[in-house]
Amino acid sequence: MLQSFNKINKVEGELLLPGDKSISHRAVMFSAMAKGVSTIENLSNAEDVNSTISCFRQLGCEITKTENLVRVVGKGYKGFTKPTEALNAGNSGTTARLLSGILAAQDFDSTIIGDNSLSQRPMKRVIEPLSKMGAKIKSSDALTLPMTIHPPKRLHPIDFEMNVPSAQVKSAVLLAGLHGDTSTSVIEFVPTRNHTELLLDLKTISDTDKRVIFASIEDYPQNAEYVVPSDISTASFFIVLALLTKDSNLKIKNVGLNPTRTGVMEVLKLMGAKFRIENKRQVMGEMIGDLVISNGSLTNVKIPAHLIPNIIDEVPILSVAGLFAEGKFEIEGAGELRFKETDRIKAICNNMKLLGLDVEESGDGFSISGQVKNKNVTFKSYDDHRIAMAFSILSILLEGGTVEGFGCCNISNPDFLSQLNSIVR
Ligand code: S3P
Repeated sequence: MLQSFNKINKVEGELLLPGDKSISHRAVMFSAMAKGVSTIENLSNAEDVNSTISCFRQLGCEITKTENLVRVVGKGYKGFTKPTEALNAGNSGTTARLLSGILAAQDFDSTIIGDNSLSQRPMKRVIEPLSKMGAKIKSSDALTLPMTIHPPKRLHPIDFEMNVPSAQVKSAVLLAGLHGDTSTSVIEFVPTRNHTELLLDLKTISDTDKRVIFASIEDYPQNAEYVVPSDISTASFFIVLALLTKDSNLKIKNVGLNPTRTGVMEVLKLMGAKFRIENKRQVMGEMIGDLVISNGSLTNVKIPAHLIPNIIDEVPILSVAGLFAEGKFEIEGAGELRFKETDRIKAICNNMKLLGLDVEESGDGFSISGQVKNKNVTFKSYDDHRIAMAFSILSILLEGGTVEGFGCCNISNPDFLSQLNSIVR
């Protein structure tokens, strides 16, 4: 699907965005694991979250949606029923990896499959620690999906030091750990998003150089009434558009401001952006507030290494911001970008080259400088939602452009176009 964009005059108004995708996955999973009825307000309508919902329906949970409320009838400890078919995680790494941690502890066989993109993404990172816990997992030779998970003889706790900074891996191990009588611990040296810890209220010890998180049966989820903050990652596309369009003023309401997710704002602030936060409050342990953005000029900066996991989903839109900022946009230490829905380093570099810019690619990063030479370019989405939305925003900022394969926006935000149309003048 081709989607074209034209020049706009300004960005103005208010946005109320759908629920955070990461928190939504977890709210569905924890509701499904708990015994009894849970409700989830403002659940994301992303295709990825629908993949999580359909997997848990296959595991025997009743999940119904009305307006802005989702009702989940959870099955309780070891109450899931053996699925009759493979569980399809679609395009969603979070679904596949977190689910593997839950299934590793069940007394039945199950198989996780995914679409073409997900089937090429690394699963070794969850297979290894879960196997150390005693899980019985068979995957393809390349340690990718499909993964078949057999009942373990006994799942035992481990102390796991993370070698890849990944919230998905951390969560998979902790979710398996919830099934043990004594604590499993995960030690992370670079902070990653901590929604699992906050929602389950897991004991965490923070040191200057590491965080240790503990999970055992005592932390097993209870039924709850979840309220999901709006998605900061979804917001980042509109934030950059408002920042870089003259005379703009935009308010994004109820947006999640968890510090493990606001790296995009940190980087933009270092670049010179000014934000105002109103109505700051806590909902279920998560910080939220209304974010007010006005346009201003930006200067490229060295992106601090410790923020990389925090901004991993926002690098595509940050590179777009970097194009309009003074100096050269440069990022390093971001090799994880190569293992996302597509190789995001390649995708960004290839699209930027179409504009005639000077682009240098390295193993774990890239740089962009020079002048835009080509107009009305057709960018490729590489079937990656964040690439599609970042280059949609770039098309608008360049006063014309097209995105090929735009439909994949549905993976995180099916309403991207209508939200955009509601704020551009
Ligand atoms: C996510 C964690 C991140 C992120 C993904 C969602 C999560 O992946 O890129 O979009 O919900 O835990 P990694 O933790 O694997 O880097």
